[in-house]
Amino acid sequence: MVFSLGPTARSAGTRLEAFDSIGSTNAEALSRARAGERGPLWLVTDRQTAGRGRRDRAWQSPPGNLAASVLEVMEVAPAAAATLGFAAGVALEGALQAVSVEARMRAAGQDAISFALKWPNDVLAGGRKLSGILLEAEPLGGSALAVVVGIGVNVVAAPEATIFPATSLHGVGIHVGAAELFMALAEEWARLRALWDDGRGFAAVRNLWLERASGLGGEVNVRLSGTTVSGVFETIDETGCLVVKTASGERVPIAAGDVYFGGAASAGAS
Ligand code: BTN
Repeated sequence: MVFSLGPTARSAGTRLEAFDSIGSTNAEALSRARAGERGPLWLVTDRQTAGRGRRDRAWQSPPGNLAASVLEVMEVAPAAAATLGFAAGVALEGALQAVSVEARMRAAGQDAISFALKWPNDVLAGGRKLSGILLEAEPLGGSALAVVVGIGVNVVAAPEATIFPATSLHGVGIHVGAAELFMALAEEWARLRALWDDGRGFAAVRNLWLERASGLGGEVNVRLSGTTVSGVFETIDETGCLVVKTASGERVPIAAGDVYFGGAASAGAS
């Protein structure tokens, strides 16, 4: 498959390397950073053999799905870098909107599909998981931090028997290829990366994220290691934590966990 960058990404100085197949684009990006690569560099493929997911899970990337990681070495505090995943979620949602409009114009009469963001940075289509984002960071010495944002999208196929129900773009009737989606993603990423501005623009990114958030104001159960926090999904705070307001009125900020909405919450959290 031929992957390429559009004008906004190229003018931001971004480079691209594509692979027919690779273990994990995130693992490759971190190894490049250790060897001196500074980025911004996209590593992209439509087939991974050892994809990594959040919370030490595996990520399945069968042929035809999109797996892409962008590496940049930054002089930012790890806490600020942790908010970059929200910029990636907003960028991906924008890219999905753009390619689905194009796909609908090709297949006249097709219904619009709406996408939503699920904390921390999944994209949902029709309430099912369409994509995941894995943000990894590694100190390189001094104040330099290698930051890798890895994005996986189920383009042609979705895994079965996952903890969250999954879907694919083809499964919801959006017939685009991984290369078309990647070009739109890299364009949106260049815009959101600039808005994020090494963390100084996180307030603006956060507003965009909240406008696209799934489940905001509704009941959630958030499963952490060993415990579950239940209540209302109130907001995300200025550090990117999910804020749950419990029945006692306490606001609990959560940095990492699995979110279950509404009825699925009780089932998932049992
Ligand atoms: C999740 O668990 O939801 C996050 C999945 C992230 C998968 C992507 S695919 C590209 C990049 N390379 C990896 O090994 N993982 C990320």
